This record gives sequence, C-alpha cells and structure tokens, in this order.
Amino acid sequence: MTQDELKQAVARAAIHYVVPGEIIGVGTGSTANFFIDELAKIKQSIPGAVASSEATAARLRSHGIHVLDLNDVVSMPVYVDGADEIDRSGAMIKGGGAALTREKIVASVAEKFICIADGSKLVEVLGKFPLPVEVIPMAHAAVARQLTLLGGQPILRLKDGKPLLTDNGNVILDVHGLQIGNPVAMEALMNNIAGIVTVGLFARQGANVCLLGMETGVKTLVF
Ligand code: A5P
Repeated sequence: MTQDELKQAVARAAIHYVVPGEIIGVGTGSTANFFIDELAKIKQSIPGAVASSEATAARLRSHGIHVLDLNDVVSMPVYVDGADEIDRSGAMIKGGGAALTREKIVASVAEKFICIADGSKLVEVLGKFPLPVEVIPMAHAAVARQLTLLGGQPILRLKDGKPLLTDNGNVILDVHGLQIGNPVAMEALMNNIAGIVTVGLFARQGANVCLLGMETGVKTLVF
C-alpha cells in the first residue's frame, strides 16, 4: 500500500468516531484532508465542523460542509487530526503544516482527540521530526536563543525565501536535534518562554485514540 492509501484507510476508520447530530473538530494536513473527503459522504448527519486552519475551512466548504466559528461552539465530542510523530503515551509532535495553534485550540474544546496517521508516525521517542514552535515575529531571535539553551537547533521556517507566516500572522521555528524523553515537562518549559505562542508538542493533552495505518490494516491504540 502507498502512504496515501494508508492515510485513506485511517481516514475511513475515523468516520466511526463521528457522533451523529454533533459538531466535529477537524484538523489540518494531508491525512485530515482524506478525512474531510470521507466526512463529505456523511455530511447530512452532522450540523457542521470547526476548522483548525483556513485551508481546512476551505476544503470543508468546498464539500458543502457548514463551518462554524469556535466562539459559537461550547463543546464537541470529537476532534480528528493527523500528527507528525506520536509516541506510545499518545503525546504528539504537530505543526508540520504550520497550523499548530488553531489545532491546539480546537482540540482543547473537544472531549476526545482521535489521531489518524500512517504507521511511520509512531516513534519510541519524540524529536526526530523537528519540533514546530509558533512565535511572535519580533521575538523569533530571542526565542531561538532560549530554545538553543534547551539543547535544540531552531531554524526559522521559510517559504519562497521569506519567513512563512501562519494563519495568525506569526512565524515558525523548527527545532532540530531534540530527544524529548519527557514531552509533558518539555511542553510546560517551552510554554513559559516569552514570545512563544504555541509549542507543537501535544502532550499535556495528547491523543485519546490513534488509528494507525499499517500494511496489515488499521491498528487502534487507546491511551
Ligand atoms: C498541521 O499543522 C500538522 O499538525 C499536521 O497535522 C501534521 O503535520 C500531519 O500532517 P500530514 O497528515 O500531512 O502528515
């Protein structure tokens, strides 16, 4: 199976977690895109979705799925999203698509985080994938110095030769060279650095379920 076929398989499996009659939170990225395409097939059963990025909102709308403002939503049972890495405790690195801040916000309102990923995303220790950190633009050099003191090598993410701007108008530092043995502690430590908006570590509130696409089928991990 190709990586896309594995992603499609987990996207299909995640549809079983959609609660009829309830709003759903939707993540960002290639795996989440496959999920949106599957969600379109059952769109009559839900009142709408909360999007974690402008790109996801556009894809949901293109399928005729109603997109709600998070400010108008009090709770939702489920948030479905991909991950760049996930460990065996359900802690994740996210933000490869630069949508980490809205992803973390929407996930925080949902009761359950359903992670959908191909099997290559499961790791023993987080950190081989550079950790994305969203930063206020005027602070990126100062934040980079602090992240270096924590043992990482931060690199400002560029697009077309210029700093990539997130949906929130901020920049991303990708932190290389970390071995994150205690993701909860690392997330808390980085959250205390002035200038950081969001750390792409989803550990304090990690995944509740992970649907992993393997050659042998979809494997379900419950945390
Ligand atoms: C978006 O900012 C990320 O958090 C994505 O969820 C993550 O990068 C996974 O993306 P893919 O599904 O494209 O691998």
